[in-house]
Amino acid sequence: MKIGVVGTGYVGLVTAAGFASRGHHVTCVDISPEKIASLESGVVPWYEPGLSELVTEAVEGGRLAFTTDISVAAESADLMFVAVGTPPNDDGSADTSAVFKAAEDIGKAITRQMPVVVRSTVPVGTTEKVRAIVAEEAGFDCPALSNPEFLREGKAVEDFNAPSRVVIGCQHYGEAQKLVDLYSDFVAPGLILTVDTRSSEMSKYASNAFLAAKISFMNEIASLCEALGADVEDVRKVMGFDPRIGSKHLAPGIGYGGSCLPKDTLAVIDMGRRADVPMPLMENVHSVNERQPARLLQRLTGALDGSLSGKTVAVWGLAFKQDTDDVRNAPALRLIDRLASDGASIRVFDPMAMDAAKAVLGDEIEYAEDMYECVADADAVVIVTDWSDFKTVDWQRIKGLMNHPIVVDGRNMHDPIEISLHGIDYYSVGRVPAETDYGLDADDDLDAGPDMHESIRTFGAD
Ligand SMILES: NC(=O)c1ccc[n+]([C@@H]2O[C@H](COP(=O)([O-])OP(=O)(O)OC[C@H]3O[C@@H](n4cnc5c(N)ncnc54)[C@H](O)[C@@H]3O)[C@@H](O)[C@H]2O)c1
Repeated sequence: MKIGVVGTGYVGLVTAAGFASRGHHVTCVDISPEKIASLESGVVPWYEPGLSELVTEAVEGGRLAFTTDISVAAESADLMFVAVGTPPNDDGSADTSAVFKAAEDIGKAITRQMPVVVRSTVPVGTTEKVRAIVAEEAGFDCPALSNPEFLREGKAVEDFNAPSRVVIGCQHYGEAQKLVDLYSDFVAPGLILTVDTRSSEMSKYASNAFLAAKISFMNEIASLCEALGADVEDVRKVMGFDPRIGSKHLAPGIGYGGSCLPKDTLAVIDMGRRADVPMPLMENVHSVNERQPARLLQRLTGALDGSLSGKTVAVWGLAFKQDTDDVRNAPALRLIDRLASDGASIRVFDPMAMDAAKAVLGDEIEYAEDMYECVADADAVVIVTDWSDFKTVDWQRIKGLMNHPIVVDGRNMHDPIEISLHGIDYYSVGRVPAETDYGLDADDDLDAGPDMHESIRTFGAD
C-alpha cells in the first residue's frame, strides 16, 4: 500500500518506519524543515531503541521518504495518517489546531477519495471534525478513521510490531476495511478492535487516564505506608498477585511525566468540564501527581538539615523514563526548578537526555560526563529516572566521592537495607525509613541463605 504520514515525531516516524518495514511505501511529511533534513541525512533526531535501524533499512530499501510538501505524499497515497502533536492548552484542553491544519492541508492536497486516519490522541468528536474539514477543502467526502497510538516510548518499535491491540474507529464498518487490511498482515484478527470513532478516541484517553490513576493511587498508598511504617514495595507485590489488579504500572515514585499521561489526564478533565460531567477522580489523580516531586524535595531538605541553600544536589536522570531522551513534562525538570529556587547548586547526568535537557534548562546548571562525576562533592543525589545504569552502582565509590552520602531514590530502585549497610543515608518512596535497625551489619552476606533480607522485609524487622 502507499501511505502518507503527516507529522514525523515519535508516533509518526514509528508508524511510518513500521509500515515501511512491512513492505509498504511510506512518505513522511513534516512542517519542520530541520527534522526532514535530519531524517533525509539518515539521522533520527531523538533516541528510541531500534528506530534508527528501522528507518535506515526502509530508506535504503526505497520504501521510506521524507518531505515538507504534503502534495508529494498525497499524490500517490492510498491512505493518509495524521500524527501531529496535541499539546495541552493553558486550561488543560488538548490543542487540536495542528490536527485541523493537517486535515486542511490533506483536503487541499488530495485529488481522490482515501481514508484519513487520525493517529494523534484527540478529544472525542475530533475525527468527525477532521472528516468535515477534509471534505470542505477537497470538495468530496473521505472516510475519517480514528486509530489511536498506544506505543510506549522506549519500546515503540516493539509495540508497533506486537501491539497489545489495534483500535480502529469508523463511522461505517466498510470504511475501515483498508486499515484493517493494513494491520491484518501482522496483527491477529482478535486484536484488531473496530468501534465507532468516538469510542475509539475515548478508549485512548481512558487507557492513559487509568494508567495515570494507577500511579497516583500507589503514590497515595506510599504516603500512607511511610506514615504508618509499612513498605509499599511489599504492598504492591502482594497486590500484583491479584489478577484483577495486575502487577504492572503500580510503581510509586516521583510521579508520572512525559508527553502523554499528564496532558491526557488534563484533557479528560477538560472533556468532563465541557460535557458538564464532574471528574473528581481524575482531578485528584492529577493533583497527587503534581505533589510527588515536592514530597521528594521535602525528604531531601529534611535530610540536609532543613535547607538546600548553598548545597550541591546531584540529579541522576532527566528523561521522563528510561530508554528515551524525551524530557517533555519530565518530573526531573520540575524538581530541578524547585531545587534552584530553594538555592541549591545542581549537577545532572542522564545517559541519553543531556542534549534534550540542555535545550530546556540552559547553562544555569552543571552537566556531568557520567553518574560518578555527577556526585563529586555533592551533598545529596536524587535518582529521578529509572535507567538501568542507576541500578548497578558502586556505593563505596559514591560514598567516597560525596560530601554527604545521602541518596534520595525517586524510583525505589534500590534495596534500603543494602545501601544503608554502606553507611549511606537512603530515602525512598513509601518504604521503611533508613534508620530502621534490621539487626544486620556490613559483614553480613545479604545473598547468603534463603533470601535472608527478603524474608525480613516480608515478615517485618521486629
Ligand atoms: N509520544 C508518545 O509516546 C505518544 C504515544 C501515543 C500517542 N501519542 C500522541 O500522538 C500524537 C503525536 O505525538 P508525538 O509525540 O509523536 O508528537 P511530536 O511532537 O513528537 O511530533 C509531532 C510532529 O508533527 C509535526 N507537525 C505539526 N503540525 C504539522 C502539520 N500541520 N503538518 C505536518 N507536520 C506537522 C511537528 O513538527 C512534529 O514533528 C499526539 O497526539 C500524542 O498525544 C504520543
